[in-house]
Amino acid sequence: MKIKKIGVLTGGGDCPGLNAVIRAVTKTAVNDYKMKLVGIRDGYEGLIKGDFRDLTYDGASGILTEGGTILGTSNKANPFKYPVKSKGRVVYKDLSDKVIKNAAKLGLQALVCIGGDGTMAASSRLSAKGLPVVGVPKTIDNDLLGTDLTFGFDSAVTTATEAIDKLHTTAQSHHRVMVVEVMGRYAGWLALESGLAGGGDVILIPEIPFDIKKVCKKIVDRGKTGRKFTIVVAAEGASPVGGKMVVKKIIKTSPDPIRLGGIGQVVGQHIEKITGVAARTAVLGHLQRGGTPTAFDRILATRLGAMAAYTVAKGKFGCMVALKGQDIVTVDLNEVSRGIRTVPLDSPIIKAARSVGTCFGD
Ligand code: F6P
Repeated sequence: MKIKKIGVLTGGGDCPGLNAVIRAVTKTAVNDYKMKLVGIRDGYEGLIKGDFRDLTYDGASGILTEGGTILGTSNKANPFKYPVKSKGRVVYKDLSDKVIKNAAKLGLQALVCIGGDGTMAASSRLSAKGLPVVGVPKTIDNDLLGTDLTFGFDSAVTTATEAIDKLHTTAQSHHRVMVVEVMGRYAGWLALESGLAGGGDVILIPEIPFDIKKVCKKIVDRGKTGRKFTIVVAAEGASPVGGKMVVKKIIKTSPDPIRLGGIGQVVGQHIEKITGVAARTAVLGHLQRGGTPTAFDRILATRLGAMAAYTVAKGKFGCMVALKGQDIVTVDLNEVSRGIRTVPLDSPIIKAARSVGTCFGD
């Protein structure tokens, strides 16, 4: 069957490169296959509420370098567990049939879903119910299974590295410890790579529980060799040996209700108390999700978006486009929604960091 009309949505937390993917899907679908496109607003929310817009070749022009998403997004719209108010209380409903019906009403023969693990999990279940879906992997956390990299990650690493570079000079001038808390949820990719790129002396990641005494020893030892400042890069999901991750907020209506944050402050306070060296904490937060995508992310997003359109045209569904080595391939959505991809303890990146003297607090 020739595919003539497709929908595109962006779900979950935004990141640089979403617009580059929307542009690539749209231009490829129009140029190569003469398809018509519909932009679904705010992720699956738009298919629940019937909120959409035209997505034309011209409308997708000039957005390659823009951060955010022209379609809007939501990290609360899980069609299988959608929060609705009933008698003053929030109850959860399975609205997956409504999503499938609304997609059919729009005449969509396929849906390109650009998102992270939550969006891919919902897409996988909708695909099992008969909705023809192709996923595109996004997230600054780089924690999606099935792909070597997600777009958005390189841009977030670049933003965090630039911040670490700036904090380096002030830490040096004041002979302080500067703790930089970065995002990443339950995976340490962002802390590891920005920490390595920014010359972090200590990197704390969720995969390696830390001993604060070992962190402090590193700081004291550096002091003895004349290095009176230290940069500590802490992933928001880092935790001490035998301790717990620091939870900043619980958002009950979110499919993934826990928001991490605060470990940087805790680590800074302990360091100051134990070593006597002044410590300050900077939390980079949502800055890491904004701005223009790096050249690397623009290229990756364009390749992934074009491949999503080729895949739809071929009539191949229930899959996600992915980077494997140098190639863009497709992987089964079931494989993707099995869990998250954390940093392996035998990662060559960790090995190289240790070789240049980085302390992981273990
Ligand atoms: O998944 C992307 C991410 O930015 C995580 O790194 C972070 O933990 C979370 O989203 C923050 O979510 P929110 O936008 O709801 O604050």
